[in-house]
Amino acid sequence: MQELILEKKHDESRQGEAFAPKEIASNPLTKKFYIESYGCAMNFADSEVVASILQKEGFGITMQFENADMIFINTCSIREKAEATVRRRLGEFRKMKKYKPELLVGVLGCMAERLKSKFLEEEKLVDIVIGPDAYRSLPALIQEAESGQKGVNVLLSREETYGDISPIRLNSNGVTAFVSIMRGCNNMCSFCVVPFTRGRERSRDAASVINECTDLFNNGYREVTLLGQNVDSYQWVNAADNSVVSFADLLEKVAQISPLLRVRFSTSHPKDITDEVLFTIKKYDNICKYIHLPVQSGSTRILQMMNRTYTREWYIAKVNRIREILPDCGLSTDSITGFCSETEEDHKETISLFEYCEYDLAYMYFYSERPGTLAARRFADDVPLETKKRRLQEIVDLHRRHSLKSMQRDLGKPFKVLIEGDSKKSNEHWAGRTDHNKMVVFPKTGNLNKGDYVNVFIESCTAGTLMGVLKEEIKDGFYNY
Ligand code: SAM
Ligand code: SF4
Ligand code: F3S
Repeated sequence: MQELILEKKHDESRQGEAFAPKEIASNPLTKKFYIESYGCAMNFADSEVVASILQKEGFGITMQFENADMIFINTCSIREKAEATVRRRLGEFRKMKKYKPELLVGVLGCMAERLKSKFLEEEKLVDIVIGPDAYRSLPALIQEAESGQKGVNVLLSREETYGDISPIRLNSNGVTAFVSIMRGCNNMCSFCVVPFTRGRERSRDAASVINECTDLFNNGYREVTLLGQNVDSYQWVNAADNSVVSFADLLEKVAQISPLLRVRFSTSHPKDITDEVLFTIKKYDNICKYIHLPVQSGSTRILQMMNRTYTREWYIAKVNRIREILPDCGLSTDSITGFCSETEEDHKETISLFEYCEYDLAYMYFYSERPGTLAARRFADDVPLETKKRRLQEIVDLHRRHSLKSMQRDLGKPFKVLIEGDSKKSNEHWAGRTDHNKMVVFPKTGNLNKGDYVNVFIESCTAGTLMGVLKEEIKDGFYNY
């Protein structure tokens, strides 16, 4: 088994950023691959599955694409900008292929699925195009490409979950990990390309999820984030006895692995998150009191055109319910401004909804029409770009005030923090997160390590980080205040 030495190079909570594995020892004779990922956490988790499949075949991994025999780029199609970034990156690889003609370049993920073999016509340097459900066939496609043929497999599956594959943790901090619990999406939000690039929704065998989380815990990890486009519709039917595992059941089973293992999850669809899930979160100290609940728009008219299947009032009622059952729950969201036909009135409704919810964190975008989606086929993309951008800026400015307020609320209070590693700015400070997913930085004192829980007293903050001092180490992981 080759030894992997990997380092985190990006903030995994952000979408649309790239990461690449850092280093990596391997036999100099083994062919080496380099993998770079874009898009959502599910794509990053998929790259870890791909790395596992390739390593089993005897390939080595490298962080420097200059040293690679094969370059894979795991792509995202969610917005036009995401695709443009990938094309720019491919341009850089093209230059490299000029002086290293035997280099193989493979395009993985959602853009591969969306463009299929068209990719090979558009980007002549690409040798392999492989969709998210076809990664098991990657070794065979590599062989084909090595013999001079271009390899394409973009078949979507109704069953594939890669449940039996142990992902190789790329860029891991050794403390936090993503665990995919399902794939695909059955919702047809009219703006969204995901149902076309990721196919039908399917849930992963509950036992394999629990085994993966248990292995992570036994290997020193202290936080897992259960991933799916719509985690609340997770459902696994056990063929042995026909028993059904719901998302609430799965959360509970993962939380029971150890009180020292923090559990997070993403993403919750407002139409599907149930009281049962909320009460399960309440029941376990180690399930983080934090919910990502994308709203997209505050206007019921726009929500209907988006096919989100809830109204503004339904969303507000859901937020109220969350706050009733989990009074101290952190809340984050996604929003899109300038969707087809959006008026100033609709936009004001989004602003007022943001005012009402005062999100701790928000990912805010302007609408980017995606070919083939319901919205592209049905509605005109008729809001001018400047208007989309101006409305987005208004939402961003408003949210910035709310997130600062949310950080300031924590001043003068103690918080349980899971140490993830050195702070980015100084190796004399630790960095970790609170239950509410807020980054905390504090000076190193005492004999602490990554993966330890500590109690940090917050003294100051910026809009993105809390700064504090160590109050005490929490030996048993249980801490209530
Ligand atoms: N499954 C999640 C949900 O239900 O909201 C999120 C999926 S998507 C990967 C992440 C976010 O990208 C969405 O919540 C939405 O705000 C944004 N997004 C999706 N399609 C978009 C588009 N065409 N233009 C702009 N933003 C988009
Ligand atoms: Fe896209 Fe909607 Fe599915 Fe989320 S729930 S992935 S926004 S179709
Ligand atoms: Fe992008 Fe595909 Fe994720 S389109 S956001 S990488 S599911």
